[in-house]
Amino acid sequence: MRDIELGWQRIAAGDLPGARRPWTGLDPRPGDAVRSPVTETVLLIDDDPGFRDAYSELLAHEGYAVAEAGVAPKALAELRRTSARLVVLDLMLPPSGRPEEGAALAERILAERPAAKVIVVSGAGETPLALHLVQRGVYDFLAKPVDPDVLLAVVARAAARLALEDRVAELERSLTAREGDASALLGQSAAFLEARTLCERAAPADVPVLITGESGTGKEVFARYLHARSRRKDRAFIAVNCGALAPTLLESTLFGHKKGAFTSAIKDAPGLFVEADGGTLFLDEIGDMDPALQVKLLRVLETGEILPVGAARPAIVDVRIVSATHRALESMVASKTFRDDLYWRVRGIEIALPRLADRVGDLPLLAQHFLNMARALVPRSPVTTVSPGAMRRLEACDWPGNLRELRHEMQRALVMAGGRGEILEEDLSPARRGAAPAAAAAGSDELGEGATLEEKIAALERREIAAALRATQGNRSQAAARLGLSRQGLLNKMDRYGLK
Ligand SMILES: Nc1ncnc2c1ncn2[C@@H]1O[C@H](COP(=O)(O)OP(=O)(O)OP(=O)(O)O)[C@@H](O)[C@H]1O
Ligand SMILES: [Mg+2]
Repeated sequence: MRDIELGWQRIAAGDLPGARRPWTGLDPRPGDAVRSPVTETVLLIDDDPGFRDAYSELLAHEGYAVAEAGVAPKALAELRRTSARLVVLDLMLPPSGRPEEGAALAERILAERPAAKVIVVSGAGETPLALHLVQRGVYDFLAKPVDPDVLLAVVARAAARLALEDRVAELERSLTAREGDASALLGQSAAFLEARTLCERAAPADVPVLITGESGTGKEVFARYLHARSRRKDRAFIAVNCGALAPTLLESTLFGHKKGAFTSAIKDAPGLFVEADGGTLFLDEIGDMDPALQVKLLRVLETGEILPVGAARPAIVDVRIVSATHRALESMVASKTFRDDLYWRVRGIEIALPRLADRVGDLPLLAQHFLNMARALVPRSPVTTVSPGAMRRLEACDWPGNLRELRHEMQRALVMAGGRGEILEEDLSPARRGAAPAAAAAGSDELGEGATLEEKIAALERREIAAALRATQGNRSQAAARLGLSRQGLLNKMDRYGLK
C-alpha cells in the first residue's frame, strides 16, 4: 500500500551494490595514500520501518553510520544524540501525514544544526514545497519513487560537500589562529589601515564596538582581531548570528534556560552570555534582531544581569559586546526598526570597514593570499600566480560580495587553470572576464578589446544586479522587483555571477 503511495523502492538484500565508501573529497591521484574518509552518520526519517531497514542497510553498505527515526520528536532526539550531519527526510510524517509536518521538521533540524545537509523525499505533488525548502536551506530533494542509486549519489555528493566545507573551515581557523597578529589582517590601503588602527586603539578599552561594512568586508575577522588584542584575549570569544535563529531560540541561546522552561528544555542550559563571561560576545548581524529581543538585550547591557528563560533569579555576567551588521543601522533607527537606546549602547566605537572596491590597491595582495589558501584545497596544484592581464580584470570589478567574493573567485580560477602555473583571464568567471575596466565603470559602455557581445551583456547584467542589490541594501525581493525579475530568477543570476 505505502509502496505506491510513498514510492520508496523496496530493495532486496541481493540488490545491494558492492560496498563502496562514500566519496568525501577530491579524487586521489595515483600514488596518493588513500585516506580513510571520516564516517558520516545519516539520519533516516520515515515512519515506515520497512523502508528504514532497507535504506539503512544500503547506506551501511556504503560505509555510513545510520540512525533512524519514525516521528519528529525521535528524529530531534537522534539528531542530538548522534553527530549526524546528513539527513534523509520523508516529508509525509505522522501524526498528520501531511508534507507540512516534514517541512516543519526540516526547518527545526536546520535551526539546530545549520551545517546539516537535509535531503527531503517528496511526492510528485509536493515539488513546489520541496523547492521552497531548498530555498530555505535544504540541500536537495528527491521525488518519489526514489531510485536507490540516485539516493546514494545524492548522499555521497552531500558528504563530499561537507568534507569540502570542513576543509575550508579548517583553513579559516588556521588563518584566524594568527588573529592577534596583524599579518592575518591583510591590507595596506589608507581606508583599511585607518579601520585597523581604530580597531587596535579600541581593543584594550572595554567599550562596546560596532563593526559595520558590506557583506564580506571582514567584520568577523576584525571582531576576532579586536578580542585577541584585548585584555580578555585568554577568555572566550563567542560568536552568534542574530539573523540565523528564530527569536525564541535566539533568546534561550543567548540568555540560557532552566530545565522544563519549554518542551524541549530537557536540562538547564547556561546560554552564551554565561559562556562568554570574562570574554567577548560577538553579536553578528545585530540589525536582524527581533524588536522584542532588542528590549531584553538592552536590559542585559544596562544591568549586566541576565535572566535565563524560566529562571527565578538573574545572574551577573562580565561580557564585552562586539556587534556587527551589514545594514544601515542609523536609518533603521530613524524608521524605528532598531531601538535607538540599544543603538547608542552597542555603538561605543564604530569601525566602518571599507568596500573592496574602495581599496583596489590591496587587490593583488588579497588575490594572492586567497590563491595561496585555495592551493591548500587542491593539493599539488601548480598554479602559483595571477597573470597581469587577469589581475587588471580583477581590479576592474566592483566586488559587491567584497573579500568573500574574491576568495570564491580565486578558488574557482585555481580549478579552471588546471595544470597551468598561472591564472589567465580565461580562467576567471565569465562575468569577471567581461568586467568593465575602470573607464567603462565610470560611464562608457566599452569593454576591453575583443570582448564579445555576450560578454558585454553579461557585464552589464551583473553591474545592474549589483547596483540594484546595493540600492536595496541586499533585499533580494526588492532588487528583483526593481529589475523586473522573479525572486528565483534573480537568485539564479546572482549564483551565475557569483554575487552574494
Ligand atoms: N584583511 C583581511 N585579510 C585577509 N583575509 C581577510 C581579511 N578580511 C577578511 N578576510 C577574509 O574574507 C572573508 C570574509 O570575511 P568575514 O567573514 O570576516 O566578513 P564579514 O564582513 O563578516 O562577511 P558577512 O557580512 O558576509 O558575514 C573571510 O574568508 C576572511 O577570512
Ligand atoms: Mg560575518
